[in-house]
Amino acid sequence: MPEGRLAAFHTTPTFKLRHDPKARFARAARLRLGSAARGNPAGEDRMADRTLTVVSICGSLRKSSYNRMVMQALPGLAPETMRISEAPPFDAFPLYNADLQAASGFPAPVTALADALRAADGVIIVTPEYNFGIPGGLKNAIDWVSRLPNQPFAGKPVALQSASPGPLGGGRVQYELRRSMVFLDALVLNKPEIFIGNCAQRIDQATAEITDAATRDFIGQQLAAFAGFIGAHGARR
Ligand code: FNR
Repeated sequence: MPEGRLAAFHTTPTFKLRHDPKARFARAARLRLGSAARGNPAGEDRMADRTLTVVSICGSLRKSSYNRMVMQALPGLAPETMRISEAPPFDAFPLYNADLQAASGFPAPVTALADALRAADGVIIVTPEYNFGIPGGLKNAIDWVSRLPNQPFAGKPVALQSASPGPLGGGRVQYELRRSMVFLDALVLNKPEIFIGNCAQRIDQATAEITDAATRDFIGQQLAAFAGFIGAHGARR
Protein backbone atom coordinates (compact mmCIF):
# COMPACT_ATOMS: atom_id res chain seq x y z
CA MET A 1 0.00 0.00 0.00
CA PRO A 2 1.50 3.42 -0.86
CA GLU A 3 2.41 5.48 2.21
CA GLY A 4 -0.08 8.23 1.38
CA ARG A 5 -2.97 5.82 1.74
CA LEU A 6 -2.22 4.90 5.30
CA ALA A 7 -4.51 6.49 7.87
CA ALA A 8 -3.08 9.30 9.91
CA PHE A 9 -4.33 7.63 13.06
CA HIS A 10 -4.57 4.08 14.19
CA THR A 11 -7.05 3.14 16.83
CA THR A 12 -9.00 0.06 17.83
CA PRO A 13 -12.51 0.15 16.34
CA THR A 14 -14.01 -1.68 19.31
CA PHE A 15 -12.38 0.84 21.62
CA LYS A 16 -14.80 3.54 20.52
CA LEU A 17 -17.82 1.29 21.12
CA ARG A 18 -16.77 0.21 24.57
CA HIS A 19 -15.25 3.50 25.54
CA ASP A 20 -16.64 5.11 28.64
CA PRO A 21 -13.79 6.79 30.53
CA LYS A 22 -15.66 7.02 33.85
CA ALA A 23 -16.70 3.36 33.84
CA ARG A 24 -13.22 2.23 32.80
CA PHE A 25 -11.59 4.29 35.50
CA ALA A 26 -13.96 3.07 38.22
CA ARG A 27 -13.26 -0.53 37.17
CA ALA A 28 -9.55 0.15 37.19
CA ALA A 29 -9.85 1.66 40.66
CA ARG A 30 -11.61 -1.48 41.90
CA LEU A 31 -8.86 -3.65 40.43
CA ARG A 32 -6.18 -1.56 42.03
CA LEU A 33 -7.75 -1.39 45.46
CA GLY A 34 -8.47 -5.11 45.52
CA SER A 35 -10.68 -6.82 48.07
CA ALA A 36 -10.37 -4.04 50.64
CA ALA A 37 -12.35 -1.77 48.37
CA ARG A 38 -15.12 -4.21 47.57
CA GLY A 39 -18.14 -3.42 49.66
CA ASN A 40 -16.57 -0.07 50.41
CA PRO A 41 -18.14 2.36 47.97
CA ALA A 42 -16.69 5.36 49.78
CA GLY A 43 -13.17 4.04 49.29
CA GLU A 44 -13.88 3.33 45.64
CA ASP A 45 -15.18 6.86 45.14
CA ARG A 46 -12.06 8.32 46.71
CA MET A 47 -9.89 6.32 44.31
CA ALA A 48 -12.00 7.22 41.30
CA ASP A 49 -11.72 10.89 42.24
CA ARG A 50 -7.98 10.78 42.79
CA THR A 51 -6.09 13.15 40.50
CA LEU A 52 -3.42 11.47 38.41
CA THR A 53 -0.21 13.40 37.97
CA VAL A 54 1.35 12.83 34.59
CA VAL A 55 4.52 14.38 33.19
CA SER A 56 5.13 14.97 29.50
CA ILE A 57 8.40 14.89 27.59
CA CYS A 58 8.90 16.40 24.15
CA GLY A 59 11.51 14.70 21.97
CA SER A 60 12.15 17.84 19.92
CA LEU A 61 14.31 20.70 21.16
CA ARG A 62 13.33 23.25 18.55
CA LYS A 63 11.22 26.23 19.57
CA SER A 64 8.55 25.90 16.88
CA SER A 65 8.30 22.14 17.23
CA TYR A 66 5.00 20.59 16.16
CA ASN A 67 5.47 17.90 18.78
CA ARG A 68 5.88 20.56 21.45
CA MET A 69 2.65 22.17 20.29
CA VAL A 70 0.91 18.82 20.65
CA MET A 71 2.44 18.33 24.08
CA GLN A 72 1.30 21.77 25.19
CA ALA A 73 -2.26 20.98 24.10
CA LEU A 74 -2.47 17.85 26.26
CA PRO A 75 -3.65 19.45 29.54
CA GLY A 76 -6.68 20.86 27.73
CA LEU A 77 -7.55 17.47 26.23
CA ALA A 78 -7.05 15.35 29.35
CA PRO A 79 -9.86 13.93 31.47
CA GLU A 80 -10.70 15.83 34.66
CA THR A 81 -8.88 13.23 36.73
CA MET A 82 -5.54 13.86 35.03
CA ARG A 83 -3.09 16.74 35.51
CA ILE A 84 -0.34 16.93 32.89
CA SER A 85 2.77 19.07 33.30
CA GLU A 86 6.02 19.23 31.40
CA ALA A 87 8.93 17.26 32.85
CA PRO A 88 12.22 19.06 33.58
CA PRO A 89 14.20 19.60 30.35
CA PHE A 90 16.97 17.38 29.04
CA ASP A 91 18.62 19.89 26.70
CA ALA A 92 21.52 20.49 29.11
CA PHE A 93 22.38 16.79 29.51
CA PRO A 94 25.94 16.03 28.39
CA LEU A 95 26.34 13.17 25.92
CA TYR A 96 26.16 9.98 27.91
CA ASN A 97 29.59 8.64 28.74
CA ALA A 98 30.11 6.03 31.44
CA ASP A 99 33.51 7.59 32.23
CA LEU A 100 31.81 10.92 32.97
CA GLN A 101 29.27 9.18 35.18
CA ALA A 102 32.05 7.36 37.04
CA ALA A 103 34.07 10.56 37.51
CA SER A 104 31.33 13.05 38.43
CA GLY A 105 28.15 11.08 39.03
CA PHE A 106 24.82 12.13 37.60
CA PRO A 107 24.42 15.77 36.46
CA ALA A 108 21.75 17.73 38.34
CA PRO A 109 19.41 18.01 35.30
CA VAL A 110 19.47 14.21 34.99
CA THR A 111 18.41 13.65 38.60
CA ALA A 112 15.78 16.41 38.26
CA LEU A 113 14.17 14.60 35.32
CA ALA A 114 14.46 11.22 37.03
CA ASP A 115 12.87 12.56 40.24
CA ALA A 116 9.95 13.98 38.25
CA LEU A 117 9.46 10.68 36.43
CA ARG A 118 9.51 8.69 39.66
CA ALA A 119 7.01 11.01 41.33
CA ALA A 120 4.55 10.88 38.41
CA ASP A 121 1.72 8.40 38.01
CA GLY A 122 2.48 8.24 34.30
CA VAL A 123 4.64 9.66 31.51
CA ILE A 124 3.66 10.81 28.03
CA ILE A 125 6.40 11.09 25.40
CA VAL A 126 5.56 13.24 22.37
CA THR A 127 8.31 13.02 19.82
CA PRO A 128 9.31 13.44 16.21
CA GLU A 129 10.93 10.63 14.28
CA TYR A 130 14.51 11.25 13.14
CA ASN A 131 15.84 8.99 10.40
CA PHE A 132 13.24 6.36 11.28
CA GLY A 133 14.35 6.40 14.91
CA ILE A 134 14.51 8.21 18.25
CA PRO A 135 15.93 11.77 18.15
CA GLY A 136 19.43 11.75 19.63
CA GLY A 137 18.68 14.17 22.46
CA LEU A 138 15.73 12.13 23.69
CA LYS A 139 17.65 8.86 23.43
CA ASN A 140 20.53 10.45 25.34
CA ALA A 141 18.08 11.53 28.07
CA ILE A 142 16.63 8.03 28.33
CA ASP A 143 20.12 6.55 28.46
CA TRP A 144 21.15 8.86 31.32
CA VAL A 145 18.11 8.27 33.52
CA SER A 146 18.28 4.53 32.82
CA ARG A 147 21.60 4.29 34.66
CA LEU A 148 20.23 5.61 37.94
CA PRO A 149 19.49 3.30 40.84
CA ASN A 150 15.71 2.93 41.31
CA GLN A 151 15.48 3.33 37.53
CA PRO A 152 12.53 5.69 37.00
CA PHE A 153 10.86 3.96 34.04
CA ALA A 154 10.56 0.61 35.84
CA GLY A 155 6.88 -0.18 36.31
CA LYS A 156 5.90 3.27 35.01
CA PRO A 157 2.85 3.67 32.78
CA VAL A 158 3.95 5.38 29.54
CA ALA A 159 1.95 6.68 26.56
CA LEU A 160 3.50 7.61 23.22
CA GLN A 161 2.55 10.18 20.61
CA SER A 162 4.33 11.45 17.52
CA ALA A 163 3.75 14.11 14.90
CA SER A 164 5.36 14.56 11.51
CA PRO A 165 4.77 16.62 8.40
CA GLY A 166 5.09 13.29 6.59
CA PRO A 167 2.16 10.92 6.06
CA LEU A 168 3.08 8.26 8.62
CA GLY A 169 3.22 10.58 11.60
CA GLY A 170 6.33 9.02 13.12
CA GLY A 171 5.11 5.43 13.45
CA ARG A 172 8.62 4.02 13.31
CA VAL A 173 9.99 6.08 16.20
CA GLN A 174 7.24 4.76 18.43
CA TYR A 175 8.21 1.16 17.80
CA GLU A 176 11.83 1.96 18.52
CA LEU A 177 10.78 3.71 21.74
CA ARG A 178 8.66 0.72 22.71
CA ARG A 179 11.74 -1.50 22.37
CA SER A 180 13.76 0.72 24.74
CA MET A 181 10.83 0.82 27.15
CA VAL A 182 10.71 -2.99 27.19
CA PHE A 183 14.32 -3.05 28.33
CA LEU A 184 13.50 -0.48 31.02
CA ASP A 185 10.47 -2.47 32.22
CA ALA A 186 8.06 0.39 31.55
CA LEU A 187 4.36 -0.33 31.02
CA VAL A 188 3.54 1.16 27.63
CA LEU A 189 -0.10 1.73 26.66
CA ASN A 190 -0.81 -0.33 23.55
CA LYS A 191 -3.80 1.48 22.06
CA PRO A 192 -5.10 3.87 20.91
CA GLU A 193 -1.91 4.85 19.11
CA ILE A 194 -1.46 8.48 18.12
CA PHE A 195 0.48 9.13 14.91
CA ILE A 196 -0.26 12.65 13.69
CA GLY A 197 0.57 12.52 10.00
CA ASN A 198 0.61 15.60 7.75
CA CYS A 199 0.79 17.62 10.96
CA ALA A 200 1.44 20.92 9.18
CA GLN A 201 -2.17 20.71 7.96
CA ARG A 202 -3.55 19.84 11.41
CA ILE A 203 -1.62 22.26 13.62
CA ASP A 204 -1.56 26.02 13.18
CA GLN A 205 2.07 27.05 13.48
CA ALA A 206 1.15 30.67 14.22
CA THR A 207 -1.14 29.92 17.16
CA ALA A 208 0.27 26.49 18.14
CA GLU A 209 -3.29 25.15 18.18
CA ILE A 210 -4.39 21.76 16.92
CA THR A 211 -6.97 22.93 14.40
CA ASP A 212 -8.11 19.48 13.33
CA ALA A 213 -11.04 18.33 15.48
CA ALA A 214 -10.45 14.62 14.74
CA THR A 215 -6.87 14.94 15.97
CA ARG A 216 -8.00 16.55 19.23
CA ASP A 217 -10.64 13.85 19.61
CA PHE A 218 -8.20 10.97 19.10
CA ILE A 219 -5.75 12.47 21.57
CA GLY A 220 -8.55 12.89 24.13
CA GLN A 221 -9.46 9.22 23.64
CA GLN A 222 -5.88 8.14 24.23
CA LEU A 223 -5.60 10.25 27.39
CA ALA A 224 -8.84 8.78 28.75
CA ALA A 225 -7.56 5.29 27.99
CA PHE A 226 -4.25 6.18 29.67
CA ALA A 227 -6.11 7.23 32.84
CA GLY A 228 -7.78 3.82 32.93
CA PHE A 229 -4.47 2.11 32.20
CA ILE A 230 -2.76 3.89 35.09
CA GLY A 231 -5.64 2.98 37.38
CA ALA A 232 -5.44 -0.66 36.34
CA HIS A 233 -1.68 -1.08 36.44
CA GLY A 234 -0.54 1.56 38.88
CA ALA A 235 2.84 3.18 39.08
CA ARG A 236 5.78 1.93 41.04
CA ARG A 237 6.97 4.84 43.18
C1 FNR B 1 13.44 14.47 10.12
N1 FNR B 1 12.11 14.30 9.73
C2 FNR B 1 11.59 13.03 9.64
N2 FNR B 1 10.22 12.83 9.52
C3 FNR B 1 9.70 11.58 9.50
O1 FNR B 1 8.48 11.42 9.44
N3 FNR B 1 10.53 10.49 9.56
C4 FNR B 1 11.88 10.60 9.65
O2 FNR B 1 12.57 9.61 9.72
C5 FNR B 1 12.44 11.92 9.69
N4 FNR B 1 13.79 12.10 9.83
C6 FNR B 1 14.28 13.35 10.16
C7 FNR B 1 15.61 13.48 10.55
C8 FNR B 1 16.07 14.72 10.98
C9 FNR B 1 17.48 14.83 11.50
C10 FNR B 1 15.22 15.84 10.96
C11 FNR B 1 15.73 17.20 11.43
C12 FNR B 1 13.94 15.72 10.52
C13 FNR B 1 11.24 15.48 9.58
C14 FNR B 1 10.58 15.81 10.90
O3 FNR B 1 9.43 15.02 11.09
C15 FNR B 1 10.18 17.30 10.92
O4 FNR B 1 11.35 18.09 10.80
C16 FNR B 1 9.40 17.63 12.18
O5 FNR B 1 8.89 18.93 12.06
C17 FNR B 1 10.27 17.53 13.41
O6 FNR B 1 9.47 17.58 14.57
P1 FNR B 1 9.24 18.93 15.38
O7 FNR B 1 10.60 19.53 15.69
O8 FNR B 1 8.43 19.83 14.50
O9 FNR B 1 8.50 18.51 16.59
